[in-house]
Amino acid sequence: MQASQTQQSEEITTTINDVHSFSRPDEAAVTHLSLKLKVDFARKTLSGSATLTIINKTGSAHLHLDAKDLLIEKVTLGTNEEKTSFDLSESQGVMGSDLKIAIRPSTSIVNIHYSTLPAAAALQWLEPAQTAGGRHPFLFTQSQAILARTWIPLQDSPNIRFTYDAVIECPKELIALMSAENGTSKSPDGKYSFRMPQAIPSYLMALSVGDLAFHKYTDNCGVFAEPSMIEKSAAEFTDMPAMITAAESLYGPYRWGRYDLLVLPPSFPFGGMENPRLTFATPTIIAGDRSLVSLVAHELAHSWSGNLVTNATWNDFWLNEGFTVYFETRIMEKLYGRDYADMLTVLSHEELKQTIREMGDSDDTKLYLDLKGRDPDDGVTDIAYQKGRFFLTTIEQAVGREAWDRFVNTYFNEFAFKSMDTKRFLEYLDKTLIRGNKELESKIRINDWVYGKGLPDNCPVVRSIELEKAALAVKEFKSGREASSLDTKGWTTHHWLYFLRQVNDSLSPGKVASLDAAFNFSVSGNSEILCDWFQVCIKNGYTNAYPALERFLMEVGRRKFLKPLYAELAKTGEGRKFALDIYRKARKGYHAVTVHTIDDTLKYRE
Ligand code: BES
Ligand code: ZN
Repeated sequence: MQASQTQQSEEITTTINDVHSFSRPDEAAVTHLSLKLKVDFARKTLSGSATLTIINKTGSAHLHLDAKDLLIEKVTLGTNEEKTSFDLSESQGVMGSDLKIAIRPSTSIVNIHYSTLPAAAALQWLEPAQTAGGRHPFLFTQSQAILARTWIPLQDSPNIRFTYDAVIECPKELIALMSAENGTSKSPDGKYSFRMPQAIPSYLMALSVGDLAFHKYTDNCGVFAEPSMIEKSAAEFTDMPAMITAAESLYGPYRWGRYDLLVLPPSFPFGGMENPRLTFATPTIIAGDRSLVSLVAHELAHSWSGNLVTNATWNDFWLNEGFTVYFETRIMEKLYGRDYADMLTVLSHEELKQTIREMGDSDDTKLYLDLKGRDPDDGVTDIAYQKGRFFLTTIEQAVGREAWDRFVNTYFNEFAFKSMDTKRFLEYLDKTLIRGNKELESKIRINDWVYGKGLPDNCPVVRSIELEKAALAVKEFKSGREASSLDTKGWTTHHWLYFLRQVNDSLSPGKVASLDAAFNFSVSGNSEILCDWFQVCIKNGYTNAYPALERFLMEVGRRKFLKPLYAELAKTGEGRKFALDIYRKARKGYHAVTVHTIDDTLKYRE
């Protein structure tokens, strides 16, 4: 098993070119990482060593690693730490530097002694005031897509897998967790040891340090959160074990041992991140009524699509996210029924159409991307997620669900712990499912989906009986019916989101006020509803909601919410001024990923 896995990964790395990494895995490849780091909150640094086990395949004289914003103190070879020379190239934008280390043909161990800089983009160092408890600092990492190199010198390419172990030393009152085998309690001396026996790509390296409590659901599933958040978190995510069961019944065994969720402070820049064994999540999915838990289904689904079968390069990102959105929806359907899943699908379809309208004729509306010379973050759009999903749904509908599910099962099994690129996927699809069937080919139109722009017109038509009720209410409201007399009985979060997105513009401030009076949107405890509501308010000049909007922008760092809100504000002179006044204060509390995006949205310069 082990041997054939290694063999296969060698075959793949010889032909795949990752334009976002300086590493040369066809010469020498990392197979294991041993990490020893000390967490220093006062200086905002991690310092220690990364010991890499490598296979020097070609007897190369150099090992090439990725490094960005790292202070490399010294590099040694072997267990006896014999000093060697290294050269750090000048930093090239998001790529960082090529760390070129002199090795011998026989070298199998390389030790890098280093520390991170406070500016390391993967790391967010939170002041106590940015946590729910308010008493302890907090640290978390976000490595995807190419930020692992800002806290560990390694071959930072999704096409390379390695196992790892780690010892993390942190202040005694805090707990350290990683994307690895984790304990669930505090260690008296602040030292935590981790082991990750399954090989993972670098973007799944993750660490979090904070004052955390744990709630156990089952022997292999639970949730971590700050002590003051643990009760709410535990209640929100009780369906996690059922999600695992549903996922396994669809696409085979969960292969990673435990599955836990870590609820982070609100500055976490994403909704969720599928760090193996320990999904990182924003607290903004805690709505009190479990209505936003599809995000957990999404991150769990990555345990197959992404973590098991991994996009070989960031140009193939749709293979990670498109499959995951598809799988997420199947989990939701299995757990909560078809009507529920249809609501999610219709909402996503609307978002996708909107995104494609906004992106116009851009090449980035193709599934297979060309991100050479750019930040892979540019590929994080609804195209990979939703166009990717609808492509897979198109295939499902053409071949039938049964044949499709059999295909997906074998796909995950056959390529488990390997990487996959678009071309190979399409070859495999043809070989095992389409088998040259011309009728199927013309039904699916693979090339239009993968290499063509926009949304092909054979995209499955989606309807939701439930959301048609919300559509009717929009129509009635727009043709003059009072907000308070609309029939909204039994509406869920998803009905409201649909309503708010359709109702959105050319309303008088009075009409917007009547919505607020009838439905109390401005004080909603649901972040998704708030985000859509604030957009209605900004578009229609309803400034009564601005104090609530300001609080939201100050507290939440989730990029998906902040980007449309700042962008909408920036459309008018007055709005832009309001936005900048808030952004100047809020910026230092946001993660680097969010800052990068919003600087661009607001054309902000420090
Ligand atoms: N893996 C992604 C997050 C990501 C992608 C981070 C690319 C950095 C680069 C994660 O699985 C994800 O897709 N999160 C979404 C939520 C999901 C339900 C669509 C998010 O954060 O909004
Ligand atoms: Zn995802």
